[in-house]
Amino acid sequence: MKHTKFAVMGATGAVGEEMLRVLSEYGVPAENVLALASGRSAGKTLKYGEESLTVRECTKESFRGTEIVLGATEADTASAMEPFIRECGAVFIDNSSAFRLMDGVPLVIPEINGEDALSHRGLIANPNCSTIITLMAIAPLVRLAPAERMVVSTYQAVSGAGRGGMEDLISERSALVRGEAVSPRTFAHPIAENLIPKIGDVGENGYTSEEMKMQNESRKILHAPSLSVTCTCVRVPVMRSHAISVALYFSESFSVSAAKAAYRDFPGVILVDEPEKERYPMPILSGGKNEVFVGRIRKTLDSQNGIALFCSGDQIRKGAAANAVQIAALLCDGKQKRIP
Ligand SMILES: NC(=O)c1ccc[n+]([C@@H]2O[C@H](COP(=O)([O-])OP(=O)(O)OC[C@H]3O[C@@H](n4cnc5c(N)ncnc54)[C@H](OP(=O)(O)O)[C@@H]3O)[C@@H](O)[C@H]2O)c1
Repeated sequence: MKHTKFAVMGATGAVGEEMLRVLSEYGVPAENVLALASGRSAGKTLKYGEESLTVRECTKESFRGTEIVLGATEADTASAMEPFIRECGAVFIDNSSAFRLMDGVPLVIPEINGEDALSHRGLIANPNCSTIITLMAIAPLVRLAPAERMVVSTYQAVSGAGRGGMEDLISERSALVRGEAVSPRTFAHPIAENLIPKIGDVGENGYTSEEMKMQNESRKILHAPSLSVTCTCVRVPVMRSHAISVALYFSESFSVSAAKAAYRDFPGVILVDEPEKERYPMPILSGGKNEVFVGRIRKTLDSQNGIALFCSGDQIRKGAAANAVQIAALLCDGKQKRIP
């Protein structure tokens, strides 16, 4: 990992900047990291640990000599650049939704299906941020019994919509303090003092694209093609870290204490479940951390086979950048098996 040559495509964005932070935490030297963005950002400098990197415009020539490209752009840029990354022989670990459901493209959360990453053909997809956080929170339970269905409500931070989402909340908060009218740019409505129950485009079944990701991506990652998920995604005026309410129904019943015990040795998940002491998952607890926090564990009241819980996780860290760098670390572990 220290000697691997990386490119971060979309390095100036919310996810890209966090990828640089995580790579520097892993000890990857600055000379092995190329920061790429649109022509608008060429020449800017970005912090990399104690050093700085000069941003270069991303072109089809940019990937020569790189071994792993971490993608942090929208899907159209990822799709446009993928053939050139492949041509250069680099492995592309992409955060956009462009390739997630394609056959032959592993969709990976290392703690859950890390072995899927090792049979890649040069392209690995990072799941949707809310999907990663939810699946990390339920993964220990799914080991106890197969899950059949899930009802989910998300409370998604504005940074999930990138730099523009954060800028909307910051400018609206100060406009409200000054008593001025707010003018949203990234969201369809003001987000300060509000919440917006629609993320993504609405499909024919009435669910949004973001809501359908929860079902489609969960099925692929858990290898559970018949899992059914009813999801409602809501944007909330929180800067960073998504929170998610989950009711999960299994093929058999197990106790709340068995459920809590399942979290003991699961990496990357922290149980915070002492509501009587006001200890439960919240964005201010998970913000800036790699772990997903889980609490409020209880039986569902409509079925003995159901467990309800609440979780929160930093969607720029574990929901995007840290998950992608973990996948890269898996590949660098000497176990990489690339199918030609
Ligand atoms: N934000 C999250 O919490 C989150 C979580 C999971 C997954 N994701 C996914 O990660 C991706 C990035 O999201 P983000 O939130 O970081 O977005 P963002 O803050 O808007 O950043 C977008 C990045 O893409 C770059 N870019 C735009 N056009 C480009 C081009 N033609 N060539 C190269 N780079 C280009 C931008 O560069 P300029 O600065 O030069 O415009 C910027 O660095 C998206 O696919 C998103 O769905 C985001």
